[in-house]
Parts: sequence; structure tokens; C-alpha cells
Amino acid sequence: MISIIGSGRVGASIAFLCISNSLDDVLLVNRTKSKAIGEALDISNAISENSNVSIHGTDDFSKISDSDIVVIAASTGIYLKNRTEMMDAQVRMIKEIANQIKKYCPLAIILVVSNPLDVLTFVFQKETQLSRNKVIGIASSLDSSRFRYLLSEKFKIKQSQITNALVMGEHGDSMVPIFSRVKINEKNALEIINEIERKVISTEIQNYWKSLRLFKSRSQFGIAKNTFDVIRSIIKNDELVTSASIVLNGEYGEKDVSMGIPVKINKNGVKEIIEIKLNESESKLLKISAQTIRDYMKSF
Ligand SMILES: NC(=O)c1ccc[n+]([C@@H]2O[C@H](COP(=O)([O-])OP(=O)(O)OC[C@H]3O[C@@H](n4cnc5c(N)ncnc54)[C@H](OP(=O)(O)O)[C@@H]3O)[C@@H](O)[C@H]2O)c1
Repeated sequence: MISIIGSGRVGASIAFLCISNSLDDVLLVNRTKSKAIGEALDISNAISENSNVSIHGTDDFSKISDSDIVVIAASTGIYLKNRTEMMDAQVRMIKEIANQIKKYCPLAIILVVSNPLDVLTFVFQKETQLSRNKVIGIASSLDSSRFRYLLSEKFKIKQSQITNALVMGEHGDSMVPIFSRVKINEKNALEIINEIERKVISTEIQNYWKSLRLFKSRSQFGIAKNTFDVIRSIIKNDELVTSASIVLNGEYGEKDVSMGIPVKINKNGVKEIIEIKLNESESKLLKISAQTIRDYMKSF
């Protein structure tokens, strides 16, 4: 069973993908019970006749006890200028959720989606003391999708003509697009994108959510698909190479922080942390990003 804590836009979209693809039973857990029940009633009608899955809604955490995977997509409010705006309330919220998960399903694999993503992933892992390969923050794969999209728009080509678009570090303003690995129509991106253009594209990825909000209140489908891909990989034990926020223990020279890095996912969660070669400027920026996340955590 997949439990999804928070049945707002993001939680409901993840549930819809899991159910319409018959992945597994889904339980929506929401602070306001009626919202979870309403979304479950709606999504129930996306179950095809030959499917065995079901979806229910509740505000009762004790019902998550059979969960193999718990997705945390809850939020105490909506940030306006920065993902770290509601840090204190979100940290309090994730600690409460962590206690419930520890009590009812301590063996589940946890996918953190709520913001500020890297801080909450770190706090959750420390609070529960679950193995770090079972606590996965999903965001840098979304940032990587945005990187790929922006490059395809710039060069007026299809996204499939861009490979290895990877964003590492914070899901926030210090995120680091790894230009040295990107191939655009088989050509190395560094050969065709100059430094000024790289800075412009980096800022566009960082501000993607703000541009999106000029047209729509909040993002939902991109993160839902990126989260679904990880859930699917775990349930089907179908290895997936992606990027995700993981608590680091010396990898990339970092400790006491969770941030986006390339990983291999399978039925056990993170099977492997992939250490790729970065150029000097990327390594420097990644260090700054790690320190930025650690600095946020000094406030509590
Ligand atoms: N990782 C990423 O790349 C990414 C991308 C997009 C969004 N996000 C983040 O995902 C989160 C959800 O976004 P959203 O747009 O879906 O927000 P939303 O529509 O406001 O939904 C949040 C839901 O969480 C519920 N909730 C709050 N506290 C709870 C608790 N303790 N237990 C259970 N449910 C609780 C709320 O319940 P009520 O009905 O009572 O208000 C609400 O239904 C946000 O933190 C957002 O920043 C992350």
C-alpha cells in the first residue's frame, strides 16, 4: 500500500498516477478529512475494470500501518517568495508526521516531497533514525526536467534530443545545473553554451516556479510524475537512475546535509549513490549549495 500524507494538489496528482496505472492500493491522509475522502471518491473512478487497486481517504494516521511506501506531500500553507518562508511550521509538521510514521509503519520507504525539501528530508531522517537509503527527497529530478525543457526551448529542439540534463544540490536558489555532462544533439553543452548563457539558464531553472505561477497557482503534475517514477521503481523493483535528496555521509565531500545527487533506486530505496565527476566550478557551487542548506538549519 502507498500512503500519501497531504491530499492537496500534489498529493492528489501522485495518487491519480498510482491508481490510474494500477500500481498499488493508495491511502490518502489529510489534516482536513473531507478533502482526502473527496479526492479518493474522485480518483476511484479512474480504476479500470480489470484492476485490483483501491483508494481511500482518512485523517487517521493509524491506518497507514500496512504501508510499504509513504509519500509526504503535506503543507501548512503556501509560500510566496521563497521555499524556506514557512520553515518553522513545516519543520514542526514533518516532526509530527515522523512520529506517526515511526509509530505505525517504521519499515516503510519514505518519499519527502514537501518544501523546504532538503531541510525536511534531513529533519525527517534524523527524527526517525530510519536508514538513509529509505528516506528520499524528490525534487532535483523535477529541477532536471526543467533544465531539459529550458534547453529544448532555447535550441528549438525536442526534449529527447537533450541527454544527461542533471541538477544537483538544493531544491532552491543555490541549485547547481551540471552543464558539463549535458549533451545537446550529441554535442557537449559547454561547447555551444557560453558562460553568460549558462548563468541565464541557471537563473531560469531556479525561478521556474515563479514563472509558472504567473500562469497557474502552483506546480503539480511535473513533481507528481517524478515522484510516481520513484514509487514505480520501488514497487516493481525496476532500477531507476535519477537524482534525489539524500542525507550524505561523506559523498561529494559533504556531511550533515541532505541534497540532490544522482542515485540508483530499487525495491530497497536508494541502492547506490552515484558519485559523478564535476568540473571545478560545479564542485565549488555544490559546496556553496550544501552550506546554504546547512545554514538554514542553524535557525532551529
Ligand atoms: N519537491 C518538489 O519539487 C515540489 C514541487 C511542488 C510542490 N512541492 C511541495 O509539496 C507540498 C504540497 O504542495 P500542494 O500544492 O499540494 O499543497 P496544498 O494543495 O496546499 O496541499 C497541502 C495539503 O497538506 C495538508 N496537510 C497539512 N498539514 C498536514 C498534516 N499534518 N497531516 C496531513 N495533511 C496535512 C493540507 O490539509 P488541509 O486540507 O487541512 O489544508 C493540504 O490538503 C508543498 O510543501 C509544496 O511546496 C514540492
